[in-house]
Amino acid sequence: MDARAIIAKVRDRQSPTTEELRWFANGLASGAVSDAQAGAFAMAALLNGLGEEGRIALTLGMRDSGDVLKWRMDGPVMDKHSTGGVGDCVSLILAPALAACGVFVPMISGRGLGHTGGTLDKMEAIPGVTAQISEAELRRIVAKVGCAVVGATGSIAPADKRLYAVRDVCAAVESVDLITASILSKKLAAGLEGLILDVKVGTGAFMKTPDEARALARSLVDTANGAACPTAAMITDMNEPLAPTLGNALEVATCLEVMGGDRLAAPRLFDLTVALGGRLLALAGGAEGEGEEKIRAAIESGAAMDRFAQMVFEMGGPPDMDKDWRTHLPDAPFVVPVPAPEAGMVSGWNGQALGLAVVGLGGGRQVETDKVDPAVGLSATIPLGREVQKGDPIAFVHARRDDDAARAVAEVQAAVSIGGADPDHPLVHERIDP
Ligand code: URA
Repeated sequence: MDARAIIAKVRDRQSPTTEELRWFANGLASGAVSDAQAGAFAMAALLNGLGEEGRIALTLGMRDSGDVLKWRMDGPVMDKHSTGGVGDCVSLILAPALAACGVFVPMISGRGLGHTGGTLDKMEAIPGVTAQISEAELRRIVAKVGCAVVGATGSIAPADKRLYAVRDVCAAVESVDLITASILSKKLAAGLEGLILDVKVGTGAFMKTPDEARALARSLVDTANGAACPTAAMITDMNEPLAPTLGNALEVATCLEVMGGDRLAAPRLFDLTVALGGRLLALAGGAEGEGEEKIRAAIESGAAMDRFAQMVFEMGGPPDMDKDWRTHLPDAPFVVPVPAPEAGMVSGWNGQALGLAVVGLGGGRQVETDKVDPAVGLSATIPLGREVQKGDPIAFVHARRDDDAARAVAEVQAAVSIGGADPDHPLVHERIDP
């Protein structure tokens, strides 16, 4: 087969066959498809779509580009995945909370994508942690601790690893077909018995409107259930950062504060973690509402913190992340307030602009080979609906250099809307059931 012919079909809105898309997925994994071809394919798919059959064929082809895991555990093997947002660090709390509830969570996550943060980059902000581990290590840690938040091992969905990195730097992310294939290739390869998807909508999400988010949620839920993985989705708000911090080590610190008992450090993060975990436990057969109570108790009792610390230790990190975490996480040398440009009510955040400000500070990648700076980012981003006086801090910039800090201050000021009505921003917009 010829990659050019397959790309040309997508470009010309003709449907490549299932065999062609499987071949392309294998070519991404083996290297038979070049970076230029991967970028051209991704852009053509983003602009013209692959159609339902094409999306399913690409998803299954990417799943089968590596190993598909099988588990024999004493409890359900389940996971959650987000379509990507800013200040979205639910995974770092939910994986250990689920483990404390008897669920086994082999959480195969991604790195930062476009303006959004990546769970793997957050895990690797903890000194010593290696998120890129072998399948044998993944199995060992999941059996011992109950959860492991890791990158796709070389053998799990290698086609996604390649296409993900290319899309990140080619402005080819916001596609229902490509996001579906990316998320589900990893999740189906992980051999899950249940999955909850957090489909983000709003200024900090890839899907900016409820209609787009609904289409993505339906595509994900139908494709996953069609591949025999019981799956539900929630469409959740991304019109403001989910946690008040953005940036890798800063988000880890927020999660540790919440798991240490301070849910008010990030109330929306806490509430969404409970809602998603509760829905997942209900998928496993629990009564509605009971699951939420279990997740809340796992966090408030410190059980989630224990599991998190064990997981970090098993992944090469310090042995005492549950106690002395402040001494382990890296700090940025410049921390400067962002003054409110005018007085009034904070009525909007451009989440994408905030995410890009963090990428500009070095917290994400401009090209595939960039090294991420774990210490930089934003903290104390002010919640929507809050009144401010001109000059009050609406966030703090954490930067490696003072000129980076000055640029980010201006970007954050440009990302806020002040004045107007108190915005309606419910945390969960909609549930999408199988
Ligand atoms: N998360 C993924 O794993 N892939 C995407 O394409 C978007 C979010």
